[in-house]
Amino acid sequence: MVGGGAGAFIGAVHRIAARLDDCYEFVAGALSSDPGRALASGAAIRLDPARCYTDYREMAHAEAAREDGIDVVAIVTPNHLHAPVATAFLEAGIHVICDKPLAISTAEGEALAALARRHNRVFALTHTYTGYPMVRHARELVASGAIGDVRLVQVEYAQDWMAEADKQSDAFQHSDWHNDPHRAGPTGCTSDIGTHAFHLAGYVSGIRPSELLAELHAFTPGRMLDDHVQVMLRYPNGARGMLWSSQMATGCENALKLRVFGSKAALAFDQESPNELWLTPQGGSGQRLTRGRVRGAAAEHATRVPSGHPEGYLEAFAQLYRDAAARIHAATAGQPVPEATAGLPTVDDGVAGMRFIDAVLASHRAGSRWTAL
Ligand SMILES: NC(=O)c1ccc[n+]([C@@H]2O[C@H](COP(=O)([O-])OP(=O)(O)OC[C@H]3O[C@@H](n4cnc5c(N)ncnc54)[C@H](O)[C@@H]3O)[C@@H](O)[C@H]2O)c1
Repeated sequence: MVGGGAGAFIGAVHRIAARLDDCYEFVAGALSSDPGRALASGAAIRLDPARCYTDYREMAHAEAAREDGIDVVAIVTPNHLHAPVATAFLEAGIHVICDKPLAISTAEGEALAALARRHNRVFALTHTYTGYPMVRHARELVASGAIGDVRLVQVEYAQDWMAEADKQSDAFQHSDWHNDPHRAGPTGCTSDIGTHAFHLAGYVSGIRPSELLAELHAFTPGRMLDDHVQVMLRYPNGARGMLWSSQMATGCENALKLRVFGSKAALAFDQESPNELWLTPQGGSGQRLTRGRVRGAAAEHATRVPSGHPEGYLEAFAQLYRDAAARIHAATAGQPVPEATAGLPTVDDGVAGMRFIDAVLASHRAGSRWTAL
């Protein structure tokens, strides 16, 4: 693992997810930018001191040289390091599991995609919410034609953690990487959670917009990056959509919601109730579909315990790790990509997310003009 030292958020979640299905052993890390903290963080989780590194480049070289070196690296640093770290490990022949957004520019993202292909390495991107069985089922339902032609895609991802008074203080705004364009990239909320919403909408609906019209906003005085974004979407098949993301939406904890309206039926998913999915036929009443009860290869592949026993965020994360492990085993054995892992987001999804960010910025800067995507 690179990143994820003491006090970090998502690294610990990745470690739980990696262990949940007995597919990984956690053996080495460059866990922090601060050398003392990197070593102490490794010691705290009982890593072999010889495999606690203070520099990710040194780790890539040393691990590639070991007979028992790592097969795959998890990258959980702030955004600006995703591309340099992934590049170092891909060049050392090591598979990559990277958190989103893929990079801080489209050029960086495209170079990573090319590098992963050249080295024939697995590159998984942790768009966590695609690991939910009911999201996989929704995607399968749309692909099977169960809702007819997609007409409308409405997605929102709202949080309120930036609305808290202490997150608006000068001290926080100047120390946190989320407000630093050099470390977060050219957008704030858009890169942080807008990319999740954008990816989920395309993942389930099966269609990607060709044009968008966007407005970015920063509610916090002095904030350098957006903490709010609203986007209108047009699709090549004539469908329309809207995407809204905000980190200033008081009362919203992790409110990622998707609705897809088709000519025959509509689907609705709410991340905070991930064991259910609503299917409403045209002219009929909504049906609550539940994890463990629905029949379908995609949902069953991502389900661990019987219905009525809640699964959640950690299992969704673990599903991405399990799919990545299956791909790594197949790659090692010279076998084709296992069909069951088709739902795993990859470096190409990351590039699409970077193009979304570029188009949002271009539209906003042009006074919210329709912009090709
Ligand atoms: N998939 C998701 O749902 C999800 C959720 C939260 C965050 N994220 C993404 O995960 C990444 C990390 O976010 P976070 O909230 O955990 O950030 P964080 O600030 O809590 O943790 C970042 C960690 O990276 C370490 N780091 C920084 N520079 C380093 C270097 N040169 N070498 C080694 N380690 C270094 C820091 O010391 C820290 O331990 C971001 O890209 C973010 O967008 C994804």
